[in-house]
Amino acid sequence: MSKITKRSWAEPYKIKMVEPLRKTTRQYREDAIRKAGYNTFLLYSEDVYIDLLTDSGTSAMSDYQWAGMMMGDEAYSGSKNFYHLEENVQKYYGYKYLIPTHQGRGAEHLISRILIKQGDYVPGNMYFTTTRLHQELSGGQFVDIIIDEAHDPTSLLPFKGDIDLNKLENLIAKVGADKIPYVSVAATVNMAGGQPISMKNMRDVRALCSKHGIKVIMDATRAVENAYFIQCREDGYANKTTAEILREMCSYTDGCTMSGKKDLLVNIGGFLAINDEDIYEEARSLVVVYEGMHTYGGLAGRDMEAMARGIEEAVQDDHIQARVGQVEYLGAQLQEYGVPIVLPVGGHAIYLDAKRFYPHISQDNFPAQTLAAELYIDSGIRSMERGIVSAGRDVKTGKNYYPKLELVRLTIPRRVYTQAHMDVTAESVAEVYEARTRAKGLEMTFEPKYLRFFQARFSPIA
Ligand code: F0G
Repeated sequence: MSKITKRSWAEPYKIKMVEPLRKTTRQYREDAIRKAGYNTFLLYSEDVYIDLLTDSGTSAMSDYQWAGMMMGDEAYSGSKNFYHLEENVQKYYGYKYLIPTHQGRGAEHLISRILIKQGDYVPGNMYFTTTRLHQELSGGQFVDIIIDEAHDPTSLLPFKGDIDLNKLENLIAKVGADKIPYVSVAATVNMAGGQPISMKNMRDVRALCSKHGIKVIMDATRAVENAYFIQCREDGYANKTTAEILREMCSYTDGCTMSGKKDLLVNIGGFLAINDEDIYEEARSLVVVYEGMHTYGGLAGRDMEAMARGIEEAVQDDHIQARVGQVEYLGAQLQEYGVPIVLPVGGHAIYLDAKRFYPHISQDNFPAQTLAAELYIDSGIRSMERGIVSAGRDVKTGKNYYPKLELVRLTIPRRVYTQAHMDVTAESVAEVYEARTRAKGLEMTFEPKYLRFFQARFSPIA
């Protein structure tokens, strides 16, 4: 009889180049976070030990991608790397036309300007900061039509990113389909905790929208992670590859915006992909104004090549399994320590539930912002607020949004950290949780006009 009771999995890569990490003292970190206005975005990255601020642009590229960087065709127009990227977007995502952009928000800007008219409504499965802002700047109003459970960090539904079809139908009945240029479908839903949308829901949304002549535009930033969840959780998909599932998801939409800085394993890049020729024509003329020629869209040829190759690597089943597996590994440890987190664990990050972590701190004193600062002071781990600061203000009334979710995100870059870094992270969060009653909260001392979470400053309340 074998004594081996389990067979562990390991990262499906080995490390060829390393970047040293720097440890600091608690005293040093207390000074650093004070100088940064208690905003982790404003820290010097050199002062950070394990950087879980974001998974955006922070992934490690492969030798295959770096080799592609050397093949950059830096022609002003008609770069061969553009055509490789176009070929892979068509092959893996299935859309007809491609417009590269410098990153995701460049694509959001283009599609919002093209499709949204003053007074329109843009329903979506929870807002994302830049996506909503571009919709608003184009004269639209975002309407949240995600299922209620998405706002409940304790609900264990497998597809908390689903759209509530009743909410969508009610909106159509109320404002009329001609006031709804498109439904904005995020896969996965970042602000809900990286929660996936089901294939069934995407199919149903498509059917309802087709009936009313409404387009469906997907935010495909983390659609590969979403496809992986479908493979794990949805009936009928266990034997399909992530790549096949991704293609099917895209087939229920008219186009997508993409931040290549996530799923696609690059440090910079994005695109707009679309099936409609007229929209493509308009995007092609607008991109020249805001990003660059339609065959580079603000990117160097080498960046397009890295993204083209990243598309191929992102859908490898062993890659995506390890990527999401690492997030789940951290989540399982935090649960063992009894730390309140959003469940089920999402694809790219663990979200600490700051409302349950610090029940004694009112939302006006920024529990999540406080928690991110405390975690940095404890261990030099950098996380990100995803609560009232991120939610910002209603552009019309100027009033603060009070989101139900008040979260701190521990975002895991792809292929960068090891399981040991996850252990260190879990222990530090557990330590801060033990000291939770001592935290008091913050007040905002500086508030920028747009996307305030990036640059706002705070000080501890007396
Ligand atoms: N959509 C989603 C779901 C995102 O998470 C992001 C970026 C964007 C669009 C915008 O893309 O940054 O390339 O312009 N999210 C980053 C994050 C900033 O940390 O979650 P971008």
